[in-house]
Amino acid sequence: MKKYIATILILLLGLVAVAYYNKDPQPTFILPSKQNIGNADSGYRYLIYGDILRSGVPYNFFKMVSGKSKNRLNRKGKSAQIGYSYNVVTSNGVDMVVPTCLMCHAQVFEDSLIVGLGNTLLDFSHISDEKYKGAEVLLKKMAPKKYKESKAFFTSYKTVYPQIETDVRGVNPADKLALVLGAHRNPETLEWTDSAIMDMPSETIPSDVPAWWLLKKKNAMFYAGIGRGDFAKYLMLSNILTVKDTFEARDVYNHFNDVQAYIRSIEAPKYPFEIDKRLSKRGERLFNKNCSSCHGTYGKRESYPNLLIPHSIINTDAALAEFSFSNVVAIDWFNKSWFAQGAFPAKMVPTEGYVAPPLDGVWITAPYLHNGSVPTIEAVLNSSIRPKYWTRNYDSLKYNYSSVGWEYNAHAEPIDKVTYNTTLKGYGNQGHYFGDHLTDSERFAIIEYLKTL
Ligand code: HEC
Ligand code: HEC
Repeated sequence: MKKYIATILILLLGLVAVAYYNKDPQPTFILPSKQNIGNADSGYRYLIYGDILRSGVPYNFFKMVSGKSKNRLNRKGKSAQIGYSYNVVTSNGVDMVVPTCLMCHAQVFEDSLIVGLGNTLLDFSHISDEKYKGAEVLLKKMAPKKYKESKAFFTSYKTVYPQIETDVRGVNPADKLALVLGAHRNPETLEWTDSAIMDMPSETIPSDVPAWWLLKKKNAMFYAGIGRGDFAKYLMLSNILTVKDTFEARDVYNHFNDVQAYIRSIEAPKYPFEIDKRLSKRGERLFNKNCSSCHGTYGKRESYPNLLIPHSIINTDAALAEFSFSNVVAIDWFNKSWFAQGAFPAKMVPTEGYVAPPLDGVWITAPYLHNGSVPTIEAVLNSSIRPKYWTRNYDSLKYNYSSVGWEYNAHAEPIDKVTYNTTLKGYGNQGHYFGDHLTDSERFAIIEYLKTL
């Protein structure tokens, strides 16, 4: 009898466990964390003149190989002579050119530079470090004093660059870049080590670059919402490209409450053409019914729910979320690193899904989804028209203001690395089927409304 009861109990427990296990995960609210206050103007100045990196390519060397570039930031001094993606910094009397945040976080759109717009024109698909290797040899011989200041940059560059190649143009390898850099730094002291302290996945899972004006609404940073705690620590992360030690890191960090204040002050660019008011009103009603539970409401009664949507509901390419979720060693590196210490620590929380982003200024942020796999909003809302292989013309950029996104050509098969290939790992364009049940006229009403955000 006892045995009988025990068996039934075990069976019951098993059933409960199975039921619990099968319970579909639900969207979860991301809790806010306190952010420091800063000065936006000082933050902007630091971004366009500051020494976030303190080792780079000597200024006269850089000028020799780079062509003339427009002074799009209205800068003064030596910085006015180089492109907006670089700053000129001085270390021990040596002027050096260093890449900045704006390389990835600004883009020329219809001939205006939009600071904060993710740059989707960069090409990480043809990586060759020959040019830099040659420059290093030359510099070592000709100007040993200058080389001393540049050494950290060249060392890091040579190690990292070959490991961050993407399969197509227009996507960004920043997550892999951070991982490789972490692998070459002691988490506590941030000092460089030549041999990697973590295993590296061979592939580069790509992402798009999110717009800066969205940050002020978000309780967690990054597509998968893994960035919690003090955002300023994450914002300065690219400093680990060349950082010497935690003294330098602290010094750079001292500017980043200001940088965060600047990023939070940016507003989404306004749609430049006329909007059909009646159509957009209809779109607003449809949006509030079908989309706002995840993406929030806009206008006078603004709200943003800050939800993390599990993979089982969103169904978009899972590789980027998995890349952070499954990499226990990297999460551990971060959470015991200098960045996660002190009165305002940053914390990395692995998640299995993606944040439903705010849609302010979404008209200008094509291509769409976290990996930039869908060229237009029309195709986000109608999965049957999403192209499997597609190209856009990088030489003469054309925006389509009715489908809202990049003018593109669909192909039967990939031609080269300029073709976005959605069959590759991390590049998939599936999921987010929430617009599929709508009619075309409803979709275009929603698109008209999205132009107003
Ligand atoms: C090599 C390109 C690159 C550089 C340089 C770079 N970023 Fe980013 N940044 C990215 C990418 C890609 C993401 C998205 C990664 C993800 O979410 O997985 C990102 C994410 C962010 C976000 C998060 C936005 C959000 O809504 O979650 C902010 C803010 C940000 N970067 C600020 C900066 C600042 C400040 C700098 C300079 C100190 C910088 N980035 C340098 C590529 C770059
Ligand atoms: C269940 C929650 C949910 C619903 C409902 C939903 N979305 Fe989304 N949406 C998301 C998530 C999560 C993402 C990010 C997915 C990714 O990048 O992989 C997203 C991404 C998007 C993007 C791309 C943003 C970008 O910058 O790449 C657009 C546009 C969008 N949604 C519009 C809509 C519209 C319009 C509706 C209503 C028809 C809608 N969504 C309904 C969760 C939702």
